[in-house]
Amino acid sequence: MNPHDLDRSKRAAVDHPIHDLLARRWSPRAFDERPVDRELLHQLFEAARWAASSFNEQPWRFLVAERQAEAEFSRMLECLSEGNRAWARRASALAISVSKLAFDRTGKPNRHHAHDVGMATANLAIQATALGLHVHMMAGFDVEKARTTYGVPEGFDPLTAMAIGHLGPIEVLDERKQAREREPRTRLPLTEVVFRERWGNPI
Ligand SMILES: Cc1cc2nc3c(=O)[nH]c(=O)nc-3n(C[C@H](O)[C@H](O)[C@H](O)COP(=O)(O)O)c2cc1C
Repeated sequence: MNPHDLDRSKRAAVDHPIHDLLARRWSPRAFDERPVDRELLHQLFEAARWAASSFNEQPWRFLVAERQAEAEFSRMLECLSEGNRAWARRASALAISVSKLAFDRTGKPNRHHAHDVGMATANLAIQATALGLHVHMMAGFDVEKARTTYGVPEGFDPLTAMAIGHLGPIEVLDERKQAREREPRTRLPLTEVVFRERWGNPI
């Protein structure tokens, strides 16, 4: 067990029982700098690969940078917003999901591309939890910089960056971020998000 593991305090306070892996997944900022085993990294993307997708189009692509490859890691770090870079620099690996916008067969826009890439990254995050790793997704990155840095072709959009790694000591964060790291995870109640018969009518 990782001695820095805050999982017990960050476990979802559920109103109905859910699978342990779902309850335990959370998004830390305090990573340590240990590398992640290459095989484990492959397992994460394998989990992503087996997500469901509209017409089995599999619109997900991933760019990845391991911290052992210092120049590559710095290049991806440079794509992140300053705020995210401050903590994500301690991750073991960084990745950016890229979404394919149209169907191969018809050339028509795939209305569900982002949904399906989200399905894949959700798989990845749950697989990470099962392996004792953590993933923190990031909207805060420069999409155009990622596009040019990696030569992402037309018809594909960089979607979400992510930090992947081992939980580190909370003291690596400044005080404000330490407080955020300790905050309990919160969610809207089911009555605000699941309706029956008519919009707004809670189950
Ligand atoms: C698509 C997406 C983008 C996010 N962008 C950021 C970000 O740029 N910076 C950040 O610190 N957290 C980011 N987060 C993390 C969310 O704030 C976090 O998932 C949310 O507060 C719920 O916390 P939990 O994941 O620990 O349950 C992002 C999460 C997602 C799914």
